Parts: sequence; structure tokens; C-alpha cells
Amino acid sequence: MITDSMANEQAKEAAARASLGFIKDGHIVGIGSGSTVAHFIRLLAEQVKKGLRIRGIPTSEYSRLEAARLGISLTTLDECQQIDVTVDGADEVDPQLRLIKGGGGALLREKIVASVSKRLVIVADSTKTVPVLGRFPLPVEVIKFAQAVLKKRIEALGAQVALRRAANGDPYVTDENNHILDCRFGTIGDPDRLGQQLSNMPGVVEHGLFIGMASVALVAEGSEVVEVKAGSRA
Ligand code: 5RP
Repeated sequence: MITDSMANEQAKEAAARASLGFIKDGHIVGIGSGSTVAHFIRLLAEQVKKGLRIRGIPTSEYSRLEAARLGISLTTLDECQQIDVTVDGADEVDPQLRLIKGGGGALLREKIVASVSKRLVIVADSTKTVPVLGRFPLPVEVIKFAQAVLKKRIEALGAQVALRRAANGDPYVTDENNHILDCRFGTIGDPDRLGQQLSNMPGVVEHGLFIGMASVALVAEGSEVVEVKAGSRA
């Protein structure tokens, strides 16, 4: 019997596999974070074993350790300030390829890596596509000192705001030693405006709205993968 979660895993793997088509010999590759990207890292490592020469720049400590463990050569933004292709996941994708990211807590490095990538390829199962962003709580990375003030300020914009916690109940700490506020807006009618409002708040390090960054989304249902470009529909 195929359960929903098995079908979902199959879709994640199919999307990740399709993204390999964007990676060429000699590329600098941004390596995203999350469970869909975990498939990508494994599949990329298989290609490396077969002779593909790339260097990866991971967006999280988790992805860095996993890529290194599987034998992918890595570099850093200190050595290399432009990336050919980044493959990353998303928590929500709208028809204009605007994204919510940061469910896995890596949004800051992910956005920096995306911003220096010639191409950002999003890999996702079809449950991530939405007509309007906002069902998924928007992650906002904040400096610890400002978190209580920012919780109130973001609530004033109409969101329910919760400090993210780790499994042991302590506040979740990002790779850059910040905290995350998960902000439930319900629907985000104007993502550009909200992104600007959040960026203007002192103490906000970065928010999980990725607007105008994705080049293409590879959206999978089962083993079927649809390539979505901004404006087209899955
Ligand atoms: C991490 C992210 C991930 O890409 C996003 O949460 C999707 O993860 P998954 O593939 O596990 O659903 O933004 O910060």
C-alpha cells in the first residue's frame, strides 16, 4: 500500500532528480536545505561519483555536513561570489513563483545564496503550490535582543506570532545564532509590501518571502514533474 507520505517522498525525489538537468560540469552549485534538497544532495553526490565536477556552496550547516559526508567538493562565498545554479526547496510557491521559505530555519543563508545565483531552481512536491501565499507561517529571523518588540510589531500587522522552539523547548537558534518568529498571516495579499514592512523593522535580520528570485520551480506529483515558470501554472 502506498501511503501519502511515501507518495510525497517519491514526489520530492522526482523534483530533485529533475533539477540535475540544470547542473553542468564546472558549475558552482548552491545547495539548499530541507528534506527535498536532501534527495538532491544524494543524487548530486551520485553524479559526482560518476565524474561530474562541481563545487557546492551549502545554505546550512546540516547541508554542508551532508554534502561533505557524501563526497561533494565544497567552497564558500569568501572564495566564490557568484553561483551558477542553486537548487533549493520551499514551503509555499505561488503562481508568480513568489515563495515562503525558512520552515527548516535556513532562510538567511538561503536568501544570500539565492541573491548571488544566476539561476534559482526550486524543487517541491505539489502540496507546496498555493494560489496565495500565507497558509504557511512566515518565518522571520530576528536578533534575540529584539524578539519581544518584534513579536508585538508583527502582531500589529495582523499576524499571530510564535517564537520557534527546538524539540527540547528552548528557543530555536539559527546557524547565524538568531531566533525565528513564525508569523501566521492567513493570506498575504501584498507580499512585496509585507516584505518591505518587515525589512524596515530594526532587529529583523531577514524574512522568508523570496520575491523575484526563483527562475523555475520543479513541482512533482508522484513521479510526474512539471516545470513552472513565473506566470505559468503547474
Ligand atoms: C529551509 C527551507 C526549506 O527549503 C523548506 O522548509 C522546504 O523544506 P522541505 O523540502 O523539507 O519541505 O526553506 O529553510
